[in-house]
Amino acid sequence: METKANLMEADRIIIRKMQTDEIPRVSEILCDSYRWLAQKEGYTPAQCDWLVTNRGSIQTVTIESQKELYLVAIQEKVICGMTAIRENSITKFYIDPSFHRQGIGAILFKAAENQILLSGYRELVLGATDTAIPFYQKMGLIEIRREPYQNDIFPGRQVAIMSKKLVR
Ligand SMILES: CC(C)(COP(=O)(O)OP(=O)(O)OC[C@H]1O[C@@H](n2cnc3c(N)ncnc32)[C@H](O)[C@@H]1OP(=O)(O)O)[C@@H](O)C(=O)NCCC(=O)NCCS
Repeated sequence: METKANLMEADRIIIRKMQTDEIPRVSEILCDSYRWLAQKEGYTPAQCDWLVTNRGSIQTVTIESQKELYLVAIQEKVICGMTAIRENSITKFYIDPSFHRQGIGAILFKAAENQILLSGYRELVLGATDTAIPFYQKMGLIEIRREPYQNDIFPGRQVAIMSKKLVR
């Protein structure tokens, strides 16, 4: 590990800060992930469209990456995953669906965890979709409570708030 911006290289996966010219690819990963999640979690077409149009757009990634730390996972020069971090919270965590179950999520998660620890926090928190809960449990998080989604696009749907104590 060198700096906060050049975080980790393991198993030929490089984790580093997203660069501005990588925003379109990160937006593509988000949109593909939302379409994948829509099938897994039974979102309506309108809910999926809302995620793709509002949460996954190039404009949204451009604006939010000015306020949060965006990291990308790169395998053989291809960006195959992304995460966004704000303070001690992982606000986004998505691996391109065609790269699932290759261990990339675990490497990216470890880098995000290290980043939060390096920033001085002793606890990591995130809101998980049901589909992602087994992965986060494997990463050592435990569910602490459930909350409603904070927008009216997903009435009745809940998010699992999960946390992990961090130790040096
Ligand atoms: C959840 C996600 C990030 C996992 O990424 P990944 O690169 O596929 O995960 P890894 O290959 O590193 O998995 C590590 C371990 O986590 C567990 N795991 C990962 N995905 C799992 C799944 N769908 N079901 C059960 N366990 C899972 C397994 O124990 C796995 O080890 P194994 O493959 O040796 O059994 C990925 O599926 C994803 O991007 N999902 C869609 C987006 C999403 O839900 N993001 C979270 C929003 S809160």
